[in-house]
Amino acid sequence: MKLIAATFAILLAAPAAWALEAPPGAMACSGCHATSASVDTPAPRLVGMKADDILAAMLAFRAGARPATVMDRIAKGFTESEAAAIAQWYATQPN
Ligand code: HEC
Repeated sequence: MKLIAATFAILLAAPAAWALEAPPGAMACSGCHATSASVDTPAPRLVGMKADDILAAMLAFRAGARPATVMDRIAKGFTESEAAAIAQWYATQPN
């Protein structure tokens, strides 16, 4: 009986856990921008940045207003709302 209760508890908790999963497209970023502060990559760190700053950078890259080697092209592949969701997600990663 306890096991069944535990199973229900997990099922009820699941939607909250899903909300923390990466939004669509975020996997296209995490190959270069690590999602953990303990991983060092050549690409600048997004973990620890504010969501607003990540989104602003994405929009500037997309508009060609900010010089870039790769981000201008990458940013063009995302709508503002997709970029906002990814920015929010990065901002909630532990750093
Ligand atoms: C191929 C590797 C690569 C991928 C994939 C990539 N980036 Fe980048 N990103 C970079 C590099 C390199 C820079 C530095 C600017 C430049 O040279 O283009 C950068 C810069 C940035 C910056 C500015 C950071 C700062 O310090 O101001 C943001 C924000 C950013 N990327 C977001 C993203 C997001 C969101 C995605 C996924 C949609 C993504 N990047 C995918 C390599 C990548």
